[in-house]
Amino acid sequence: MRGDARRARNMTIQKATHVYWHQGAITRNDRERLNGHPGFTIWFTGLSGSGKSTLAVASEEALYERGFHTYILDGDNVRHGLNKDLGFSPTDREENIRRLGEVAKILRDCAIVNLVAFISPYRKDRRMARSLSEDGSFVEVFVDCPVEVCEKRDPKGAYQKARQGIIKSFTGISAPYEPPEKPEIHLRTDQLSVGECVHQVMSYLKTNQYISC
Ligand code: ADX
Repeated sequence: MRGDARRARNMTIQKATHVYWHQGAITRNDRERLNGHPGFTIWFTGLSGSGKSTLAVASEEALYERGFHTYILDGDNVRHGLNKDLGFSPTDREENIRRLGEVAKILRDCAIVNLVAFISPYRKDRRMARSLSEDGSFVEVFVDCPVEVCEKRDPKGAYQKARQGIIKSFTGISAPYEPPEKPEIHLRTDQLSVGECVHQVMSYLKTNQYISC
């Protein structure tokens, strides 16, 4: 088995034996009652520079103003701490998403609306993160923007570095991005303003009874 594949397998198999689940006295229902709403995940996926973080921040503000308990998990931020041991090989990206899927699940259990902004380029990894959500409390948002536009925006100068070969395996340039086939929400950020995108997110959440106003 190749090193990368072995590492991936090691990270997903259950290594710890003789471990048991302890049930707390306070349930998810109790926490939902206290917070006044259930937890759910809004998962933003798209190319670097497509607007994931911007939309997560603006959507969080819109939810906060409506009285929701919220938290943003942003790829760049999480890679400074929890996931700082991971790079950008397919195996490391898979582990990046697996851990985030688990964190998002914990936040749902805390009755917190969590907004996840990760490139999450592989369909199978996003599917795995969704499979951890119990009851459809997972809203996938495709932050869709042509790579040429993302490259023109280049807010972090990363595309330029990727073109110069300084950043290897850069999504959209030298590594693949697999667009979602059936996202709950599809936003063309090269055609819509941030306000219009947030409006679409809130409309979806309202129509599907995640929020009431
Ligand atoms: S993911 O592919 O594993 O989901 P993630 O969202 O955590 O990626 O991190 C993406 C961020 O890391 C980008 O916004 C960019 O700033 C930085 N980055 C550094 N190297 C790469 C790379 N090779 N491909 C994509 N993003 C990279």
